[in-house]
Amino acid sequence: MYIVRDGKSGFYIINSSFHVLWHVINFFWYVFKYSPANLSLFRSPENLYSPSGFMDYWIAGFLVLTAGVLLLPWLWFRLTNSKTRDEDKQEESEKKKGMIPKGSLGWPVIGETLTFIACGYSSRPVSFMDKRKSLYGKVFKTNIIGTPIIISTDAEVNKVVLQNHGNTFVPAYPKSITELLGENSILSINGAHQKRLHTLISAFLRSPHLKERMTRDIEASVALTLASWSQLPLVHVQDEIKKMTFEILVKLLMSISPGEDLNILKLEFQEFIKGLICIPIKFPGTRLYKSLKAKERLIKIVQKVVEERQVATTEMPNSPANDAVDVLLRDVNDGGCSDKQSHPLDFISGKIVEMMIPGEETMPTAMTLAVKFLSDNPVALAKLVEENMEMKRRKLESGKEYGWSDYMSLSFTQNVINETLRMANIINGVWRKALKDVEIKGYLIPRGWCVLASFISVHMDEDIYENPYQFDPWRWDRINGTANSNICFTPFGGGQRLCPGLELSKLEISIFLHQLVTRFSWTAEKDEIVSFPTVKMKRRLPIRVTPVERTSPISVEDH
Ligand code: HEM
Repeated sequence: MYIVRDGKSGFYIINSSFHVLWHVINFFWYVFKYSPANLSLFRSPENLYSPSGFMDYWIAGFLVLTAGVLLLPWLWFRLTNSKTRDEDKQEESEKKKGMIPKGSLGWPVIGETLTFIACGYSSRPVSFMDKRKSLYGKVFKTNIIGTPIIISTDAEVNKVVLQNHGNTFVPAYPKSITELLGENSILSINGAHQKRLHTLISAFLRSPHLKERMTRDIEASVALTLASWSQLPLVHVQDEIKKMTFEILVKLLMSISPGEDLNILKLEFQEFIKGLICIPIKFPGTRLYKSLKAKERLIKIVQKVVEERQVATTEMPNSPANDAVDVLLRDVNDGGCSDKQSHPLDFISGKIVEMMIPGEETMPTAMTLAVKFLSDNPVALAKLVEENMEMKRRKLESGKEYGWSDYMSLSFTQNVINETLRMANIINGVWRKALKDVEIKGYLIPRGWCVLASFISVHMDEDIYENPYQFDPWRWDRINGTANSNICFTPFGGGQRLCPGLELSKLEISIFLHQLVTRFSWTAEKDEIVSFPTVKMKRRLPIRVTPVERTSPISVEDH
């Protein structure tokens, strides 16, 4: 009986085998006792010698023998395959533990937070990931702000996280962000509701009708902005572009043009977003509280617009959708997107405010960094001017206005935009939380853990991009396949939550670059990129702008 004495296993197995055997014997005991034939065997010893008692004895003997014949192979199997369910479980959990990516959880409570932040502030924010990648592999574990987290620097793992089949991953934002956005925000919701809203917004932002209209609006805003720059002795690109992109965004979302309403909206919005990254304490006077109050005021302004539009839509139900308010109103009126808790018009106002967030910071950062990279790379700038001047000449000759597809056809300009987005890493990765254990490429992401799909690590990986710290727009001609379907290039995320503003963003940057390089020249003062907590220029990128009447492409010496 003690043959398998070793370990947690042996004794336990035999013990548990006997436990089961005991239940089997009990079972037969009940069969004998309560069978319809009412066996008398166990009633009194005298019955043993009566004919019927004798028969009972044989029947009982037969049953015990049958049970033995059935049980023996089972017992044999249990002993030779010396495993129990508990042991299976234990083994499975050991196996799972072994699959959790390697890494260090750092100090109690703070984990590796301080190193993570210090690297973020440095000129190489990716150094935190690079060091751990070399120690533990492309996917590793760490602990940031008391949260165990798995960081993936692997493009294929990131792809699976982004695709999120089965809705296993939900967005995981800092508490201040979830407080400000609310639990039903487009950026936090998951599943069918998110998909529907995402499809609706994407379809609108990609529609040819909107693109053509937005091309005119963006051109007008850019022209006005650049004209004002040439009047200023020094332009802080980051601030000035922000004003312009906010105006464009608000026009796109709710057709508000520059004026008093826009100014109030801008002030409230700035107050609101200050709280996105703050200590999540909510009582009068705290940052979070002030931001929540600003959000209430912001929603009221938007609500007014939505209510007026509702009246107009009822009067002219077949007019085309001109902005995001129109799109959401039509959908809600058709019984589509909305949540059960809020009034449909409140729902729309909330969504419009939420949509301002992803576009507000990202667009101006992309444009500012494009100016920075071009200022530092005169050869790339000269090529950009050449391509854009060529199109300007063609347009002047034909007398036709520019269309969305004209801007998209500028291949080197698109290379400059892609290279800017690769190096800028405006959204350096996305944070998700696993709702159940997930295995990807042999790595286990346990339920409840956060995973950071790090885009910056992939974008700056020298195995993927040769000389990754060099601004090289020509690399996009050498890379096979388009940038849009490349899993190693994800500035706009991917899968279920791929940025619906992708095409519009590229259009806006293209128009800005076209007008800037064909009508102006500039000299930039020295400045540095800061990557933490968000990407920006340390001195807001000061430049001096001069209007130029270009008739031919510039040479490198011009800059
Ligand atoms: C260069 C500019 C931009 C960049 C780099 C960018 C990047 C991103 C990224 C990485 C995501 C995915 C977030 C995630 O997976 O959790 C995202 C989502 C989103 N973006 Fe953008 N974005 C840009 C511009 C815009 C603009 C202009 C708009 C609006 C017009 C916009 C609207 C959105 C929305 C609504 C989402 C959420 C989609 C969803 O969760 O279903 N973005 N963006």
